[in-house]
Formats: sequence, C-alpha cells, structure tokens
Amino acid sequence: MDVTADGCSVEVYLLLPPAGEPEIVHAAVPAGASILELGCGTGRVTHPLVELGHAVVAVDDSPEMLAHVRAAKVLSRIGDLDLGRTFDAVLLGSHLVNTALDADRHALLAAARRHLAPSGRLLVEWHPPEWFDAVASGQGGRLGAVEVELADVVREGDLLSAAVRYSAGGRQWSQEFTCRRLGLGTLLASADLIFDGWLTDDRTWFAAQARRWGWRNDHRPA
Ligand SMILES: C[S@@+](CC[C@H](N)C(=O)[O-])C[C@H]1O[C@@H](n2cnc3c(N)ncnc32)[C@H](O)[C@@H]1O
Repeated sequence: MDVTADGCSVEVYLLLPPAGEPEIVHAAVPAGASILELGCGTGRVTHPLVELGHAVVAVDDSPEMLAHVRAAKVLSRIGDLDLGRTFDAVLLGSHLVNTALDADRHALLAAARRHLAPSGRLLVEWHPPEWFDAVASGQGGRLGAVEVELADVVREGDLLSAAVRYSAGGRQWSQEFTCRRLGLGTLLASADLIFDGWLTDDRTWFAAQARRWGWRNDHRPA
C-alpha cells in the first residue's frame, strides 16, 4: 500500500472525487491560464483543471502519486522546485500551508512566489483560524465512495493534531496530521506577498500576489 512522505494513501486519493476545488481555481484565473499545482497527488484536481482548458504543471514528491497524473508533471520537493519559468497562477491546496513547521511553510511559499508571473495569483486552500476553534472529533462526511471522519483531535497552543479516518468498500485507512493556526497577515508578510481576496465565503481559500515582482525570496534580483 503506497503512502506518501506526509502520510497520504495513494489508494484513498484515487477514490476521492474533486470537491469543488477545480471550479474555485478556474473562477479565480483568466481563461486558459497556466497553472503550477504544488502537491498534486493523483491529479484529483489537476485533471478537471486540464479539462477546463488550463495548461497545468503538476508537482509532487511522491512517484506513486505522480504515476496517476495525466498532465505535465515534475517529481520534486516543493521547496526545491525552480523551473526557471513563471505561471499565471500557482495552486497551493490541501492545507499544505498549515504545516506545523515554520521552515517548511517558508519553503512552500517561497517556491510558490518564485513561480508567479508579474500579475500572477497564488491560490491557497488553508485552515482559517476559526476552523481551529470549531473542529471536533466525529466531524466528517462522505466524498464519493469514501466516508471521511476526523478523530483524536488534540489542541496544544497553535498546534492541532488529529487523525482522518477513511473507509470505502469495507476497507479502512487512517492518516495522522498536525497543523498550525496561522495569522494571515504574518503568513503573507513572511513571503513578501499581498492579499488578493477571498475565493470562498467560508474563507478556506484566498488569493495573494507578489508584493514586489522581480525579487526572489532571498532578495536577490530574479
Ligand atoms: C493531501 S494530498 C493532496 C493531493 C491533491 N492536492 C488533492 O487535493 O487531491 C498532499 C499531496 O502533496 C504532496 N506533498 C506534500 N508536501 C510536499 C512537498 N513538500 N513537496 C512535494 N509534494 C508534497 C504529497 O505527496 C501528497 O501527494
């Protein structure tokens, strides 16, 4: 059973259908926009975006996930990525930005920023601060054939740890995670980004742009 470095089951992601993410992204970018998707998994979001007319470059550090992606793809840690080109949009979904480790988050955001075109938009799916107050064990629902339930929620300061239990067709999977409550202003400033609007009413998606284009995350001219 293939599991990624961050604990995602390839089997589960092959079973999960998109849940509105492609439409949110599509509505936030121009028709035919080029999109760099960071942490693409099996292409659950990639494939509908391609069908919606976008030229997607999909990145993941799991060869087992990437094997299922039918689009231009790059096997890489996100933080190490430097494709030498920019995109109309960079997609950082799946709450990756809420990683517990500040150094990992800085690496994710710096990689996103260095691939943004001058007027490009970074599209982020995150856990907003209010999610950390409201989330509880037992919450969940059904996505396609998969029952999803949160368990073992534990709060410790700005950190929240839990497990996601998946079940489908009599089989079960579990993925533990720890995520960090973030302030949006601090998050954006840390990567020299500016807020560019909410993409959903529940504030689980937002857009950002580079504050100064042409300057890399290490402050050397591009
Ligand atoms: C929760 S899954 C989501 C996959 C996809 N975004 C989706 O919504 O179906 C997260 C994916 O991001 C990848 N990933 C996480 N951190 C990464 C990193 N630092 N570099 C490259 N890939 C990463 C994992 O391998 C996994 O495939």
